[in-house]
Amino acid sequence: MNDLFSFFAQRRNTRPMHKWHHYFEIYDSLFTHLRHSNPTILEIGVQGGGSLEMWRWYFGDAARIFGMDLDPNARRNEDVATRVFIGDQGDRNFLREVRRQIGVADIVIDDGAHMASQQIASFEELYSMLTRTASTSWKTRTPPSGAGATTTARTGRPS
Ligand SMILES: C[S@@+](CC[C@H](N)C(=O)[O-])C[C@H]1O[C@@H](n2cnc3c(N)ncnc32)[C@H](O)[C@@H]1O
Repeated sequence: MNDLFSFFAQRRNTRPMHKWHHYFEIYDSLFTHLRHSNPTILEIGVQGGGSLEMWRWYFGDAARIFGMDLDPNARRNEDVATRVFIGDQGDRNFLREVRRQIGVADIVIDDGAHMASQQIASFEELYSMLTRTASTSWKTRTPPSGAGATTTARTGRPS
């Protein structure tokens, strides 16, 4: 059991989190090299805020953590060190403004709408903000077979 799954399983977070169990292994394998480097993280899809709380625990107080969500209620999960942008991940003007305000990012996690057109817009607009050692995680829609959602991931940006 890695640290992220352990955090989830032990319910150390007080806010609700919505993740498939196999994500934790994937997240840990992608993010472990950045864990102690005070990274900048943007997660698309905040909902109850449990994952933002987990990233704070995993990456530490000095990490820059940002959320993005369509639902204005997600702003409840802001605190002095964590900012939540409210808007549509398919809206390229909104994405450009988020990119302008954050600057560079080490990690972008797409756990938002899971619609291809919105994911493509987010990827195209946010890719250029990634550092060269960055990790990204993009969740696909749950297949009709019910086999469960898959996560595709890419590490690093070509030089
Ligand atoms: C699966 S939940 C996020 C779960 C959260 N990351 C966690 O681990 O607990 C998906 C979230 O995406 C948000 N969402 C849906 N469509 C969106 C869009 N077009 N742009 C931004 N956020 C969107 C929803 O409001 C919802 O809060």
